[in-house]
Amino acid sequence: MTEILRDDADGIARAALLLRTGHVVAFATETVYGLGADATDGDAVAGIYAAKGRPQFNPLICHFPDAARAFVHVIADERAWRLAEAFWPGPLTLVLPRRAESRVSSLAAAGLASLAVRVPGHATARAVIEAAGVPIAAPSANRSGRLSPTRAAHVHGDLAGRIAAVLDSGPTSVGVESTIVDLTTETATILRPGGVAREALEAVIGPVAWGADAGRIIAPGMMRSHYAPSLPIRLDAVAPGERESWLGFGPAVVTAPVAVNLSAAGDLREAAAHLFEALHRLDAASVAAGLAGIAAAPVPHEGLGAAINDRLRRAAAPR
Ligand code: TXA
Ligand code: MG
Repeated sequence: MTEILRDDADGIARAALLLRTGHVVAFATETVYGLGADATDGDAVAGIYAAKGRPQFNPLICHFPDAARAFVHVIADERAWRLAEAFWPGPLTLVLPRRAESRVSSLAAAGLASLAVRVPGHATARAVIEAAGVPIAAPSANRSGRLSPTRAAHVHGDLAGRIAAVLDSGPTSVGVESTIVDLTTETATILRPGGVAREALEAVIGPVAWGADAGRIIAPGMMRSHYAPSLPIRLDAVAPGERESWLGFGPAVVTAPVAVNLSAAGDLREAAAHLFEALHRLDAASVAAGLAGIAAAPVPHEGLGAAINDRLRRAAAPR
């Protein structure tokens, strides 16, 4: 069911075609194997989370063939250009303010105002991304809670039957993930240590701080900057109260002054693809309508529902 593709012209073309048509494909980068999907297609991105069995929606790194195309989606300052010049293609990820006109799906960015972008150093990865012609969102190609894969066999062992294909390029060379540098702050900050050392970064842009969480893998769902609506959310609601808008799931028709349905068909993948956009829209419309809160219909907990419920719980948590 999961195709194993060879690292040649045919394999690259096949991987690109699958990506362009909304499928999830694993391919090698110089760091670890990535689990790619079209970042502009929320449904395809939901497929990444479904395959990983990840109980949370972490923001994903978007991969591009070169800096010029990466910076179409983010606002790159001079530090970003200097780092790109010095380390791209290579194991460095830059977190930058996302441009309003970027077509990257809000699910890939987990609703954040920033976007993580990277130009991988692996020639095959760049060829696949180039041929796909769209930004490729790609977390490491492992099931949630397992190790990052450095060989196609690791990916296959973990994800066979859950993804369309794995492109086998042999073992990866760097073996640890990319260094993630946050450039949305005045002082550049390392969010995750990785393939590019702090000293090397400092040689190019001067002082770089360690993020509070840089010693461990950060769980961005916990980050304060993570999007949360301005209005309180009431979970597992049966119906909206008088001064509440309605976040629906499933075919039930509910009367509310403002309502958005995550999926009228009750499809979890569709609901995941719409989640962040729906929260943004509903929040803005509810505030504009002078409402006091958002009531959310129950969403089943199985499959992608676990991540949807996790995000709703965080959005509903008192602040
Ligand atoms: O080497 C790598 O970076 C590999 C290859 C496949 O490119 N990818 C990778 O992705 O390690 P992943 O999803 O396993 O880790 C991405 C990390 C997560 O910890 C996520 O929180 C962080 O990047 N991240 C993504 N977007 C972010 C953002 N806008 N702000 C802060 N952190 C972000
Ligand atoms: Mg990972």
